[in-house]
Amino acid sequence: MDKIVIKGGQALHGEVQASGAKNAALPILASALLADGTSTYRNVPALADVATMLKVLRTMGCDAERDSEETDVCRVGVNGHITPEAPYDLVKTMRASVLVLGPLVARFGRARVSMPGGCAIGARPIDQHLKGLKALGADIHLTEGYVEATAKQLKGGTVNFDVITVTGTENVMMAAVLAKGRTLMENCAREPEVEELAKVLNKMGARIEGAGTSSITIEGVDGLKPVEHAILPDRIEAGTLLVAAAISGGDVLVKRVVPEHMDALVEKLREAGCTITTEGSGLRCKAPQRLDAVNITTTEHPGFPTDMQAQLMALMSVSQGTSVISENIFENRFMHVPELHRLGADITIQGPTAVVKGVKGLSGAPVMATDLRASASLILAGLRAEGRTDVSRVYHLDRGYERLERKLSALGADIRREKA
Ligand code: EPZ
Repeated sequence: MDKIVIKGGQALHGEVQASGAKNAALPILASALLADGTSTYRNVPALADVATMLKVLRTMGCDAERDSEETDVCRVGVNGHITPEAPYDLVKTMRASVLVLGPLVARFGRARVSMPGGCAIGARPIDQHLKGLKALGADIHLTEGYVEATAKQLKGGTVNFDVITVTGTENVMMAAVLAKGRTLMENCAREPEVEELAKVLNKMGARIEGAGTSSITIEGVDGLKPVEHAILPDRIEAGTLLVAAAISGGDVLVKRVVPEHMDALVEKLREAGCTITTEGSGLRCKAPQRLDAVNITTTEHPGFPTDMQAQLMALMSVSQGTSVISENIFENRFMHVPELHRLGADITIQGPTAVVKGVKGLSGAPVMATDLRASASLILAGLRAEGRTDVSRVYHLDRGYERLERKLSALGADIRREKA
């Protein structure tokens, strides 16, 4: 297993480009199942999770490939016979594989998809996904750890989500586009990635209104056509790069972002004492040597994103004062805390809240990544820590960051990957 080795203390300077959004690419790749023919996607990040989604699609009989290692272009051809199944051994490695459920039932009338099971950050059930499909007329059976969903023809209906769920909203939206009649979805997730998926589906011929708000209306259509689309920038990767500038007391321009997708994070970084300015389609973060502590409460978009909580905790661990961080989305998303302790952070967990007392400095040590955003948090802390920090199990990092160590090295960080 690879590890990332960092020698802390370098202030980062320069320009860096955000890659395409992982959490937009995954549902959009799955949506190719809704049309006959080949869809082409650009700005698709080279991530382990994207490779897994392409593999899930190939397992079903699609031609799903990246053009070549160097490009950001992926094509998904849905032509021949499709076996509408997603096996456990793939779904267990990436729970977002469950996003094929809605398209398969809508297009092929049948789906057999493994239940994703829990993951490190929480139980993460899919009851709302299933509630939505049932509301559209699907028969759902759970057998041997698999969801078996069938429907001769989905019918439009009303779906009131009990819980705001990003992939739940996306799954039901992809099912509803081919249902007969109108579907009304309430209490939907408002993330930019939901809006981006609706944009792609409408380009394919769907009739979706309201994506990005909590109420979405869909008029079912008879069929969709393949699409060409460039994926929007990854607001979480971009946010992580802004925090790298902040924690190192640097000055970095993160290019090719959508600033309005990052308001909650930018507001917190400014409150902590960073100077954040918009430059074209980029955001510049300039930070003093030490920032002020700020409080963080994660909520659904447009609130502060849970996917940035671990990164902000690393930043708060070396800020002036005490920061209270409340994690309201997942029940176990503090696994980076014991690892940050190893670097000298002063953090106390009280249920869903972490109290972070800023310390003057951290000192490098070997630490272990436990999940995707925890990996980023430990690398950020290593940028600041005195001496050497080794972050092991970086396969977690590779799920959601495209060559992060190269991007940070180009900004002046003393960071390298050591192959296992
Ligand atoms: C998406 O996960 C993202 N993944 C996650 O990003 C992100 O953290 C999360 O949304 C929240 O923003 C993708 O988009 C591929 P949820 P998702 O369904 O859709 C509960 C990353 O780091 N819930 O919005 O799986 C659930 O347990 C990843 O890039 C139910 O109870 O998250 C959680 O507490 C991590 N029943 C809350 O809702 C359901 O049927 C939000 O989960 C579905 C969800």
